[in-house]
Formats: sequence, structure tokens, C-alpha cells
Amino acid sequence: MKKYNVALCFLLMYCLNTSAQNKRIHQRVDSVLRFMTLKEKIGQLNQYSGRDVTGPSNPQQYNLRNEIKNGMVGSMLNVKGVKDTREIQGVALQSRLKIPLLFSLDVIHGYKTVFPVPLAEAASWDTAAIRLSAHTAAKEAAASGIHWTFAPMVDIARDARWGRVMEGAGEDTYLGSVIAKARVKGFQGERLGGTDAVMACAKHFAAYGAALAGRDYNAVDMSEQMLQEVYLPPFKAAADAGIATFMNSFNTLNGIPATGNRYLQRDILKGDWKYPGFVVSDWGSIGEMTTWGYADDLKDAARHAITAGSDMDMESQAYKKELESLVVSGKVNIKWIDDAVRRILYKKFELGLFDDPYRFCDATREAKVMADNSHQLIARSVAEKSIVLLKNENHILPLQQAPKSVALIGPLIKAKKDLAGSWTVYADTASITSVYMGLRKKFSSQTTFNYARGCGINDTSSAGFHEAIELATKSDIVIMALGEAGDMSGEAKSRSDIHLPGKQEELFNAIKATGKKVIVVLMAGRPMIFNDIADKAEGIIYAFWLGSEAGNAIANVISGDYNPSGKLPITFPRAMGQIPIFYNYSNTGRPVTATSGIVYKSAYIDLPNTPRYAFGYGLSYSSFTYSDLKISKAKLTQKESFNVTFTLTNNSAFAGEEVVQLYLQDKKASVVRPVKELKAFAKIMLKPGEHQGVTFTVKPDQLAFYKPTQGWITEPGSFKLMIGAASNDIKLSTDFELQDVVNQGLSSNK
Ligand code: NOJ
Repeated sequence: MKKYNVALCFLLMYCLNTSAQNKRIHQRVDSVLRFMTLKEKIGQLNQYSGRDVTGPSNPQQYNLRNEIKNGMVGSMLNVKGVKDTREIQGVALQSRLKIPLLFSLDVIHGYKTVFPVPLAEAASWDTAAIRLSAHTAAKEAAASGIHWTFAPMVDIARDARWGRVMEGAGEDTYLGSVIAKARVKGFQGERLGGTDAVMACAKHFAAYGAALAGRDYNAVDMSEQMLQEVYLPPFKAAADAGIATFMNSFNTLNGIPATGNRYLQRDILKGDWKYPGFVVSDWGSIGEMTTWGYADDLKDAARHAITAGSDMDMESQAYKKELESLVVSGKVNIKWIDDAVRRILYKKFELGLFDDPYRFCDATREAKVMADNSHQLIARSVAEKSIVLLKNENHILPLQQAPKSVALIGPLIKAKKDLAGSWTVYADTASITSVYMGLRKKFSSQTTFNYARGCGINDTSSAGFHEAIELATKSDIVIMALGEAGDMSGEAKSRSDIHLPGKQEELFNAIKATGKKVIVVLMAGRPMIFNDIADKAEGIIYAFWLGSEAGNAIANVISGDYNPSGKLPITFPRAMGQIPIFYNYSNTGRPVTATSGIVYKSAYIDLPNTPRYAFGYGLSYSSFTYSDLKISKAKLTQKESFNVTFTLTNNSAFAGEEVVQLYLQDKKASVVRPVKELKAFAKIMLKPGEHQGVTFTVKPDQLAFYKPTQGWITEPGSFKLMIGAASNDIKLSTDFELQDVVNQGLSSNK
């Protein structure tokens, strides 16, 4: 009891302290706002890219610097490094009110050190590792003068054609929400203002991941229920974790561009969620509202955007050019401008920039942080955790007995830059470890490695096959590295066909025809389709893009120095025609069952409904058994939580980690529910032969669903609880009953 009181006291003191500090910042913001002219206020809402602001002087550079000097710019993106940010901050400090600039950058998965792409990191299901990765990236960026990253992208993505699947945490709302929180805490630290942290930005608000046909920048059409249940919760999780900023989005949502969408930004984000941070537009997205056919011209676009809640204009120059006359003519209420400026100034105060505009511009710190070798080790560890073992026939992996000769074949064996994936223009890609380097280093004394490229990533020619076949024939075993080029995913990199590109699968088939055992390492920014490899390769490792330490991490998995523990955060289809495919679908009135056949069922006549690899799937060198499922209550009343326990046993000779997954199904409700939904997970390390009791607590709000007009509710009835090693590998299950629940109107802010 005493302990409890002390903790409560600390919490109270913390809250009082925080609210006193908030009040103080608000007062300081007001004291600046009071002196600002309308022009200067609008200047704070203006963000430019800095590609021309440093470097050789030209007329453009002159104009930009002049605008900064005149207080017409609130933030710059793409200016980085202590030297440049210090120089440009100096220009801002020549302005009348000396308001410092915010320097922002797309630090998506690393700055100098490259961490795995976010989709890969999501495969680790390891929130501590993800948080550390984000924090290390933030440390490097902050040391380099950056205040603000445009990450994390928390868009749910169920369509692997969309190039930006690599930037998010995959298809699942719960996993995505937990990871969103970890990334926010990683980038920002416990609270804003540390010089080893940066402001984060939840993007793209909202529903960008549902762009029609997986084509970037496309329209989105979805039900309110889908929006609230699937696409918004990761944004809410980021807001709850204290994220400093949001970015809106290029897409429309049900006919209204997200950038001009009042419902999203004013009603939900700043209204229901009471979000105190600011919203930046996406690049040029204010201006693009005219191209969509939603705004008459740039002026009308500016009016839509500011009244809808877009606080800062990234590169449309719409606010700079049009807001003043819109305010003067009474078309835009000054209260929206003041509100936006307040939000932005608040963050500048919170970062401590008014006290010291050069706090992030310390050349000694920059040099020290950039030379910190521990970042490589962190990158290696996160990379190892992000690897998913898809197939391991007859335990071909790990290669415990080092083979005498290994043929290394494929266009990605020696690749370096590709392994960084998209969004790494500032990274040190030259020091990336290739698969070739990683393997040679690991096995060098016992094994001869020979190399043949076989073909390029997107080749139409088979000219290199012959050499590769010869090499395979005279080697003990073959390791192939195949996949996409690093720039085949990311922004504006949608693909209409997600098969392994070019001749690569043909090359695999030719090598396999030699009769040699083949281990395939697949690398890409998205799920790919590779059915022949899935059927015939002895071992398959899915590595996505792992960054700086890719080669070492992959070599550690192949040698057994690291036991793979990743699980897929996104479903892998068998064929393009299955897209969009995801695990939490509805049963339909005519589901295919094991015994039903497919006639007049919800099925394809030419393809099973099931994916090639399911969400949550991934192998380990260990094998685990699940037993003794118990729930503390099989009948619940309103607002009750209950415990679920079971035993996990490692019955193998390898120490290893298992991601145990808890799914729920609301069997019957007034809105049709999915066949299962992930509600909790844990990653558990067990030694050989060890067993451990695992406990999850299920809370009432995990049983809730969104009902248009009513918000989040639970309904009485029967639920199924499932514990699994993957969404399609349920090991234990039981039913429970929710009784006597009157629709309890759980917060619509869930
Ligand atoms: C456009 C992208 O959609 C967004 O994610 C990114 O942060 C901005 N460009 C700035 O580079």
C-alpha cells in the first residue's frame, strides 16, 4: 500500500510538473504571437525543401535565403549536417522576431547507419528492438542538426503492389499500433527536447495504405467502420504516445482529399482525440487538390487546407501566396492561422530552440555520434531479429557442418546499396555488408565460396545461366540471393506484378535442375510471389531489406549463430489475383471448408483461397509445443478482464524465441466480425527443453468493435479465443461468454 502511495505521489508530481511546464510554454507562445504580423504568422506555416538553399549561390538560393531572413519560412526539409543547419539557422535569426527554423528530414530507417526497412523490423515483433533502432536513428539525425523526422509511417497496408508497404508495419492494426508506439518513443525519447531525439510524425493521415489497386497517390474509398477499426488505431496509438506531429496524405478519402479533409483533421484528430501537435501537409498535396478537381485554384486549395486543419504547407507555396488575402477578404478566419502558428511555435519551444537555436548544431557531438560503432551492432541485432525463415526442409539450416564448397549465385549476392532499400539517400551505403562478404567472413576457414551472378535483377537474358549451372554442379550446396532492386519499392514504386522480377525464378529452376540443394535468400521491400522456389528450394530465408549489417545478419542465421525468430507482418499471396489478401477477413455466407468443395462457395475456381505464407508465420531452428490453455473466467460480466494462461515448451536442442499470438473472434455480432483478430502477442526466449507459463490479460475493450452511429461497443455473446504460432496455425483454443452487457459505449476515441 505504501509503495502504491509513493508511486501515486510521483505520478501526481509528474503530472503537476508537466502541466505547469505546458502552461509556461503556452504563455511564451502567446508572448511571441502577440508581436507577429499576419505575414510573419503565415511564414511559420510555410515549409520549403532546402536543396537549393546551401551550396553554390544561384538566384534561387538568394530568393530562398531572403525569404528566411524576412521571416517567411517556418521549417526547412532536406537541409542536414551541423554545418548547413547552423548556417541556415543563422539566416533565420536575422529575421525581425528571430524565430528559429525547424529542420526536418525523412529519417525512415536510419540516418547514417541503415536499419532494416520498417516492414522488416515489424517482422521482428520485438518492440524493444524497434524502439532502439528508431532511437539510434534519431540520435544520429539529431546530432546532424535535424529536429524532426517524417516517420513513422503507420499506414496499414494490405496490398503488396503498393510500393510503400516497405515503410510501414504491415497489415495488422494491433501489431501496427504497438509498433507505432515503440517508434514514437524511440524517435522522441521519453519527452521532447533531448538533443539525442527528434520529433516524430505519424503519416499519412489517413488511409493512404488503401490506395485503389495498390497504385500510389490514388483515391481511397472505404466504410466508416473499416476506417475506424483498421486504419485509424495506429494513428491513435501514435497520438497517445505523444507524437509531436502528423502528416496528412495525398489520397482522397471517400471523395475528399485528406489534405482538405475536415472530418479527419478537425473532427477526429484535433476534436475527438484532442491532439495538441501540428499537421504538416504532404509534399505539394495542398496544390494537388486542384488537380484532383476539388479546389478551383491554389487560393481555394489554401482555404480548404487551412480550414480543414493542415497547419503547415510542405512545398505547395499555397499558404505563402494565398493566405494573407484569404484572411483579409474574410474567407479564412484568423483563428485558424493563430491556432496553426500556436501549435508550431509550441513545438519550437518544447525543443528548446527559442532558448538555444543551435542546440542541435554541435560539430563535436556530430563527429562523435557518427563514429559510434555501437550503432552497427544495434543494426546487426535488429537485422537478425527481422529475418523470417520460411522453409527449412529436413533441417538444411543452419549449416552446422560447414560445406567444403558453396556456390553463391544470384544478382543480390554481392549487392550493397540495394540492401539499404528506399529512403536512404543520406546513408553510408558504401559500408553495407553484402551477403557475399558476410558469408565469407563467417565460414572463411572451412569453406570455399565461388560466385556466379547468373542474371541481373530485371534481365530478359539467360546468358549468365550456363556459368551459374556449372558452378552449382561442382559445389556441395548452393546459396542464392534473389529479389527486387532496392528502388523497386518505396514512394511511387507500385508494381502491377509482384513476382520475383526478371529471369530470377527461371535461374533458380535451372540451378535446382542440377540436383543440388538450394538455400534461397529473398530480399525485397514487399511480399513477392515465388511459387517454384516455395515448392522446390530446401531452405528459404526472407530478409526484406536489412540495411548496413544485412550480410552479417544473414550469415549468422545461415550458420546458426542466430536462431531466426521473425514472423511475417503481412500475408504473402500465391497469385496476384488474390490481392488484397489478409488474415482477418470475413467468413462470408459461403465459406470454403475442408470438406465442402468450392462449387457455389466463396472461392476461386483456379486457385485456393489460402495464402502462400500467412500473417504471423515464421519458422525457428527450435520447435515449440503449446499446452494447458486455461482462462480465469469462461463467463464474463460487463467491464471484466480475464487472464489466459498456457505453457510453451521448447522441445529442441536449440535455444530460441517464439512469438506467441492471441487471436479473438466475436462469433456473432450486429456488425459481421472477422474470423480472427490479433489482440496480443509476446516474444519468449526458451532454452532447450525449457518450458514457461505464458499469461495474457484480455480487457473488455479488446472485445469491442466500431458501430457507425454508436462508436466503440461490445455486445454479449460467445467469443472464440485462439493461441497460435501464426494466424493459420492455431495451437490452442477455447470459447468464452460475454454476459449481461448493455452496449456500454466505450470511448469512441479508442
Ligand atoms: C512525400 C512522401 O509521401 C512523404 O512521406 C515524405 O515525408 C515527403 N514526401 C517528404 O519527403
